[in-house]
Amino acid sequence: LVASLEQVEQTYIMVKPDGVQRGLVGEIISRFERKGFKLTGLKLFQCPKELAEEHYKDLKSKSFYPTLIDYITSGPVVWEGVGVVASARKLIGSTNPLQAEPGTIRGDFAVQTGRYSDNENVGRNVVHGSDSPENGKRETALWFKEGELCEWTPAQAPWLM
Ligand code: PPS
Repeated sequence: LVASLEQVEQTYIMVKPDGVQRGLVGEIISRFERKGFKLTGLKLFQCPKELAEEHYKDLKSKSFYPTLIDYITSGPVVWEGVGVVASARKLIGSTNPLQAEPGTIRGDFAVQTGRYSDNENVGRNVVHGSDSPENGKRETALWFKEGELCEWTPAQAPWLM
């Protein structure tokens, strides 16, 4: 079976500033690679405020919105290319690090530091993944310019034939 073009989703994975500063970039990208997702774009980036505000525009009315923008613009982030939306969310785990299952990225690596309020700590969760195929497309277009994504064909996997 060959996946039709409509079945191919795009998701947007971001290692957030705490993930970069804690040296987790390789580990997180490795988990997506080992799962079998195809990486088509990658960049190290200091997120400007305007871009952060556009990315999180649906959350503008939330009380934690200003904290979220400050946090995400506080250090470099790494963005990853194409994958599968729902599966990537499972690999990442629940939003709140204390509730994320062991084995997920947040369950294994996100901590409550005691340095921030409980409410702020919830958002310091190491990694982001798009919550729908529509947002996967929107966010990818927001963070990657034309020509920055790579088109490539993975080696054929004999176990899929
Ligand atoms: S919500 O409230 O249902 O929209 O929350 P959720 O979909 O789980 O999270 C949306 C993004 O907001 C971040 N978040 C927070 N940031 C800071 N402080 C608090 N309290 C907080 N709660 C949620 C959360 O990490 C999600 O960010 P992304 O980058 O999409 O993972």
